[in-house]
Amino acid sequence: RFIGVDLGTSSVKLLLMDEKGSIKNIVTKEYPISFPKPGWSEQNPEDWYSALCEGLKELVKEEEKSQVKGISFSGQMHGMVILDKEDRVIRPAILWNDGRTGEECDYLNGTIGREKISAYTGNMALTGFTAPKLLWVKKHEPDNFIRINKVMLPKDYIAYCLSGVHSTDVSDASGMLLFNVKEKCWSKEMLDIVGLQEEQMAKVYESFEITGTIKEELAKELGFPLDCKIIAGGGDQAVAAVGTGTVGSGMCNVSLGTSGVVFVASKDYSEIKDNALHVFAHADGKYHFMGVMLSAAASNKWWMDEILKTKKYGEEQEGIIKLGKNNVFFLPYLMGERTPHNNPDARGTFIGMTMDTSREDMTQAVLEGVAFALRDSFEIIKATGLSIDRIRINGGGAKSPLWCKIIANVLNVKVDKINSEEGPAFGAAILAAVGCGEYKTVEEAAGELIQVTETTEPEAEIAALYDKKYEVFKEIYPTLVPVYS
Ligand code: XUL
Repeated sequence: RFIGVDLGTSSVKLLLMDEKGSIKNIVTKEYPISFPKPGWSEQNPEDWYSALCEGLKELVKEEEKSQVKGISFSGQMHGMVILDKEDRVIRPAILWNDGRTGEECDYLNGTIGREKISAYTGNMALTGFTAPKLLWVKKHEPDNFIRINKVMLPKDYIAYCLSGVHSTDVSDASGMLLFNVKEKCWSKEMLDIVGLQEEQMAKVYESFEITGTIKEELAKELGFPLDCKIIAGGGDQAVAAVGTGTVGSGMCNVSLGTSGVVFVASKDYSEIKDNALHVFAHADGKYHFMGVMLSAAASNKWWMDEILKTKKYGEEQEGIIKLGKNNVFFLPYLMGERTPHNNPDARGTFIGMTMDTSREDMTQAVLEGVAFALRDSFEIIKATGLSIDRIRINGGGAKSPLWCKIIANVLNVKVDKINSEEGPAFGAAILAAVGCGEYKTVEEAAGELIQVTETTEPEAEIAALYDKKYEVFKEIYPTLVPVYS
């Protein structure tokens, strides 16, 4: 048996997989998130670990416990977890969607210079990344900064709690802006800029490598074998891509989770002009490019839960039929935006309502706004010369057939769903299986375990209507920039 742990933003999901790749059980445990100021976003790492422990106890049946060979992880990326000499958490984790580091990013991209930062790491500074957060702590909480003994990422913290080993992996480390993605090592220059030593960083592994074994007392408590392996795992996007079989070269995955991501696997490292996309190491041992929007399924969740106050997602979407003909637009920038605007001050916006605008039009606008924002990233990927005519889709939002249809038409591609909807948790279990030697490579495992089960095709007429709507969508953001700032 192999366990995949997906440490998300709202919950941790644990998945138990057998040697043949069948999913035996899934358990989800939620935890709180706090927004101490507008645009800030924090969580307590201890909450992640308690949720994980509760989940592990429920996940595995008594008779299966002795068969658990390995555990691996998918984690919300970029979050800053800082530990003191006794490995105690110094302050709440500052998360990937926290936008407080505008000044620090200006310093890195401006004063130090974007070319330099990009030469050191492969990417430019963006507010969600870890290095600017460390600079923020250094300036605003100097007492906390000097206590830092280890800088960790979210999933690496819970892995540490299980194994006692400070480790990370190449894909998640790529999102710290402290890592030389091309060479796959810590960047001495970036560590100097932030004021850290390499000893304060975790040891870096490939995502499918073993970092240690579960601590003896925990193995006994959980009933797992004493040699149950801990496998490094990866950042949620890379691991989700493993879980949808987006490995090797040229394949594309769109993830409709809290964030929304257009992800392309590449066997080679490559610089992307103007850093318009992230260039990160992939969990299959190679590289990938991606564009990230911050509020994808989160926009619909906000609209449904906070505004319409209903949990009936399916029912709410039933009456939506006028695809490509909606006059209402929604800009999904509820937490600012990363790709392509890189603007933490951007905000959510509805525009175009008239007296006959209905509730359905507004719901449709939210789904479409996310699809248009994904197209922004998709256009950048196409501009690099890659031709993509089909994508795989995963994440909570992918459960909606209407949303898949909107995306197929807005991007004008075939949208494939696969035999597992569990993207990151499944990907993590696959990494555990590869780490334990069940498969030779991540590519081999993905090839064997993942099949396409359903395809949504674009329809020429609707796609053409959306092409025109997208032109309008693109015009809205620039006119609002002065209002946002
Ligand atoms: C990726 C990113 C998100 C978070 C949370 O760059 O910021 O995918 O990892 O899901």
